[in-house]
Amino acid sequence: MINLVLFGPPGAGKGTQAIYLAQTFNLVHLSTGDLLRQEIAAKTDLGRIADEIISKGELVPDSIVISMIEAKLKSPKTTVGFIFDGFPRTVNQAHALDQLLRKHHSKVSVMLCLEVDKKELIDRLLKRGLTSGRCDDANEATIENRINVYNEKTAPLIHYYESQGKYHPIHGIGEIEEIAARLKETVENL
Ligand code: C5P
Ligand code: MG
Repeated sequence: MINLVLFGPPGAGKGTQAIYLAQTFNLVHLSTGDLLRQEIAAKTDLGRIADEIISKGELVPDSIVISMIEAKLKSPKTTVGFIFDGFPRTVNQAHALDQLLRKHHSKVSVMLCLEVDKKELIDRLLKRGLTSGRCDDANEATIENRINVYNEKTAPLIHYYESQGKYHPIHGIGEIEEIAARLKETVENL
């Protein structure tokens, strides 16, 4: 199995690039952000909890997102592997992912980290906010908070994966196809 963790700050292009990678390598794309937004759209209890947290730019509790991933890994669909987009976001989530994959006799193959500077991230997210309808893209204060939360709680995962020799930084600025080619090459050279 090949399991890719697609990593990077909000606005780095994880969702966009995950779609390309999923097609190229025939992987199942798992986006916890998309799963949470589906719950919000379906107005479930979980959706109501998530909506409040997401609109502030904060993180949904580990237990919730871990259960969502666990359910997806359990579903009987056979695949050559997964792309984890926006998960793990905390060291706890990374440990849980390792455990879940171990149960399936598998492991994280590589962590691909899209690198984009803060000014570009803010520009991209404000632009996306004009059309995405996402409450967390709508104002600069929420975007700032998401970037701060990333730096504080999510960026430490770089060390987690680096210490296992799995961390691969990828330059995340340029044409979408260019960045897709950089990611593809990195995965092919694993
Ligand atoms: O991954 P994405 O940027 O789509 O996630 C949108 C929002 O969903 C995040 O800003 C965060 O509030 C929430 N989220 C989370 N935990 C995750 C994934 C997403 O709290 N593992
Ligand atoms: Mg996303």
